[in-house]
Amino acid sequence: MLLQIKDLKKHYTYKKGILGSQKGLIKSLDGVTLSIEQGETFSVVGESGSGKTTLSKTILKLIEPTDGTIIFDGEDITHADEKKMRQLRTNMQIVFQDPYGSLDPKWTIQRSLEEPLRTHMKSLSQQEMKQRVEHVLSVVGLNPEHAKRFPHELSGGQRQRVVIARALISEPRFIVLDEPVSALDVSIQAQILNLLKQLQKQLSLTYLFVSHDLSVVRYISDRVGVMYLGKMIEIAKTEELFQDPKHPYTKALLSAIPEINANNRKERIVLSGEIPSPRNPPAGCPFHTRCPLRKPECSKVVPEWTSISENHQVACHLFNQQKGE
Ligand SMILES: Nc1ncnc2c1ncn2[C@@H]1O[C@H](COP(=O)(O)OP(=O)(O)OP(=O)(O)O)[C@@H](O)[C@H]1O
Ligand SMILES: [Mg+2]
Repeated sequence: MLLQIKDLKKHYTYKKGILGSQKGLIKSLDGVTLSIEQGETFSVVGESGSGKTTLSKTILKLIEPTDGTIIFDGEDITHADEKKMRQLRTNMQIVFQDPYGSLDPKWTIQRSLEEPLRTHMKSLSQQEMKQRVEHVLSVVGLNPEHAKRFPHELSGGQRQRVVIARALISEPRFIVLDEPVSALDVSIQAQILNLLKQLQKQLSLTYLFVSHDLSVVRYISDRVGVMYLGKMIEIAKTEELFQDPKHPYTKALLSAIPEINANNRKERIVLSGEIPSPRNPPAGCPFHTRCPLRKPECSKVVPEWTSISENHQVACHLFNQQKGE
């Protein structure tokens, strides 16, 4: 197991009331437990605001967890300080959605790629750095000439290749990819996804892949976790999740994708209402306000995590009850 997180929480406080004298709580991440195997791609899906980016950043401790445990490669890093995290970040990298925003526009690609080496591998000579930059550019399908350019002189796909190169240059084992292809055209998306798959094989990388695009997730993942209002509500092997989803929310999400639905010929489930605000989350099951199958206990009791099979878990009262029968 490369990464294990247990009951991970990130709560923010905000001022409420007319005078702002009271404190409210936003539970952006509210007790997520999962493990990721070496070499695996684990994807996280969920609507906007479900907590995917909060999960990504908390795992890498770019934001501090409120509670819970993060174990990376057997080591508890929950309370690791900034110095320790700087060392660990040679092994743990992140790629964000917007390749333009994540590169400094005033820096050449060469300088952007050298930056992580200056932080993590101080002993390298100027010549060695240059060689590494050239090598990593070729790994992501760019050439040495691109190193001299500025971000605005590259296409969106090329910029995202540079961002991936920057994540790879310190030779990490684990990369969090938070919507890495969402800002790109569909044809470029496919190129970058194929590149990520190929690099994973070549360099035995482990990915946490965040996306709201289920077709992309189906293509890239070994296992998928579905988030709703800061909680994980279902985890399964990719094909099992797509063929046999259990949670009513997962069923609704999947029924909305035409190409997946065409095979299964299932009726589209249209959910009523919007995802509730995390400032005022529903009691009991977070999904009960929109669930077509809700029962009286759903608004009162938080459903337990139930195993359907070895690689399939769900948090839903429909399955708790079946188990007890
Ligand atoms: N620094 C913060 N302070 C207060 N609330 C925050 C903060 N960061 C995130 N949130 C809230 O936490 C919730 C989860 O946000 P997050 O960015 O993790 O969602 P997401 O699933 O990544 O959404 P998207 O698909 O839009 O990227 C949101 O309701 C958001 O408003
Ligand atoms: Mg996000």
